[in-house]
Amino acid sequence: MFCLRLSAVCLLLSLFTVSVGFAGADVFTVDHDKFPFYPSLFTYQSSEVDFNPPSVCSGCHPQQFEEWSGSVHALALVDPVYQGELLLAYKKAGHDVTRQCEGCHSAAGVVTGELNQPGLDGLSEMALAGVSCDVCHSVVGTTHWQTPSHEPENGSLVLRPGLETADGPMPAKRGPFAPDEECGMGFHQCEESPLHKQADLCAGCHQVYHYDAHFPLEATYLEWKHGPYAQNNIHCQDCHMVETETFLQAADNFRKPGKGEYRHYFNGANYLLYSLAKAAAEKSGDTELAGNLQNKYEMAVKRLQAAAELEVSPLYRDGVLAEIKVRVRNLRAGHNLPTSLTNIRQMWLEISARNEQGELLYQSGVMEGSGQLPENVRIFNSDGMGADLHFALDPWVITAFSRHDTIPPKGYKDVYYGLSGAQLKGTLLIEAKLRYRQADQQVAEKLLASAADKIDLQAVYGLTEVPLLPVVDMAVAQVEVMAKQ
Ligand code: HEC
Ligand code: HEC
Ligand code: HEC
Ligand code: HEC
Ligand code: HEC
Repeated sequence: MFCLRLSAVCLLLSLFTVSVGFAGADVFTVDHDKFPFYPSLFTYQSSEVDFNPPSVCSGCHPQQFEEWSGSVHALALVDPVYQGELLLAYKKAGHDVTRQCEGCHSAAGVVTGELNQPGLDGLSEMALAGVSCDVCHSVVGTTHWQTPSHEPENGSLVLRPGLETADGPMPAKRGPFAPDEECGMGFHQCEESPLHKQADLCAGCHQVYHYDAHFPLEATYLEWKHGPYAQNNIHCQDCHMVETETFLQAADNFRKPGKGEYRHYFNGANYLLYSLAKAAAEKSGDTELAGNLQNKYEMAVKRLQAAAELEVSPLYRDGVLAEIKVRVRNLRAGHNLPTSLTNIRQMWLEISARNEQGELLYQSGVMEGSGQLPENVRIFNSDGMGADLHFALDPWVITAFSRHDTIPPKGYKDVYYGLSGAQLKGTLLIEAKLRYRQADQQVAEKLLASAADKIDLQAVYGLTEVPLLPVVDMAVAQVEVMAKQ
């Protein structure tokens, strides 16, 4: 403020500005008129035009349909692990809270008012389709910076499936291209949307915040944005909407995929969900879908195995081997490793040292037969805590992390293992493994047991009990080191 001569007026004015600036302002102010589905932040521009389920799009877009089918997006609502957690949330916190979950897992079901409780009975094809074609291709804008946190969160996207035209109501679909005359073939209008080539499209759903405290439980977008891939114009689409080979080039050389290279796989790390869905497809006799899911399972395992690298080196003290250093590098994940549900996913190190006779001298991080990890395991993830500052697991309780230990994109973490006390002689074989699973065994059992209230797991998935969760070895390193220098 320019305040030389009229200083008294100026002082008054600046006092006024200050008091307005702070008057009763909470850290997170919620505009309920702007966000009618709060705590889901989706907004809806309704018209005569309804959303259309994927089967309607599939007639003219068979390739996109086939790629999307069986994707984690296609499974987002029916996912039994999600349904299990949703039901727990519904019982403990009520529907005013679970609307937040439903927004991201089935946006059309929420904005049309169809979804109002957990379970799948009686839902339309559109609601069941989860993150479907017409959710993404009806996005006309974002409210990322008008949210209570002023960051993308909880579905800060604007949906508008269609508009009034001179010929009456008409679906309008947004995509990456400048449309030609033929686009939509009279069924829909086409609109060019730069947003669809950017991470900002994904951001609204890939920043999951506590429904009220606005704490980022999952922060994949911001991890990406503050890293080297964003700085080199490599977006989510460039790794997750392409074949594995193309992803490797985007990750290694920051090579932007060309126009014809995009695929609707949305493939990430969740191989467990693909294997559950494959069992369901087989049970229902849909062998084509089962084959599709098997491909997506293999793709997810490959992606995980491309993500990281291990480097093992010996450290000597007074000429004697004292410690083993294991460097874990995030080679190719565009965000932290692991990302998203970091308080649920498990990525840990297992290490062993053997002598020339093959006898075990040292080990750490070995899973027990029951699927439990040992107390002192070196694990990369986070611990949630509630408002009472105690450990918490459920997303409607967690308002902060008490521990957050993930690896930034292109970054690394070093872990040191002390070998003092071990009988060290001659040459030692050190083996290190970086292991991954979707969840702790007991957590998975709890969520699936909860889902069983609404979904017949035996009839749909052939599950009579929860088997040991499969573990994927993301990286393995074996080195020989000398006990003495
Ligand atoms: C902002 C959007 C958003 C909101 C809100 C949201 N989720 Fe999710 N959810 C996601 C995304 C994205 C993933 C995938 C992350 C990953 O794979 O790590 C996910 C994954 C999950 C999973 C793991 C599924 C699996 O098969 O491993 C569960 C369970 C889940 N969500 C439950 C919930 C519940 C319950 C709520 C509400 C309390 C909720 N979500 C709210 C976006 C959201
Ligand atoms: C999670 C959001 C999302 C979902 C779900 C989705 N798409 Fe897309 N789609 C995109 C994005 C992003 C692009 C642009 C990719 C690029 O070129 O950068 C795209 C591109 C397209 C294109 C242009 C041609 C091409 O393949 O690049 C068509 C057509 C299309 N989608 C149709 C569909 C259909 C049909 C479905 C359902 C079976 C679907 N989409 C589901 C996000 C989505
Ligand atoms: C009657 C045929 C037909 C139907 C049904 C149809 N489309 Fe299209 N659509 C087309 C044609 C033709 C194009 C232009 C060529 C192309 O991209 O495949 C197109 C283009 C698109 C594009 C790219 C637009 C751009 O400018 O980048 C998107 C996105 C899209 N359609 C989404 C959908 C969705 C979502 C559905 C289902 C709700 C759907 N379409 C149903 C014929 C159709
Ligand atoms: C409307 C909300 C929404 C939008 C928009 C969205 N996603 Fe998702 N995405 C989800 C949800 C919900 C899940 C998890 C579903 C589950 O696990 O049950 C998910 C899962 C994924 C996964 C699978 C993760 C795994 O564990 O395998 C990938 C990869 C992904 N999304 C990428 C993208 C990309 C890339 C975009 C942008 C082009 C995008 N998403 C846009 C909601 C969304
Ligand atoms: C350079 C390539 C690259 C980019 C860019 C990238 N990812 Fe990933 N993403 C990966 C790899 C590799 C994995 C598997 C390892 C892991 O779980 O982090 C992965 C995993 C995921 C998962 C699964 C996590 C889980 O727990 O199951 C989600 C969700 C996801 N990415 C979303 C996104 C979103 C959203 C963006 C953009 C903001 C993005 N990714 C950008 C490479 C990339």
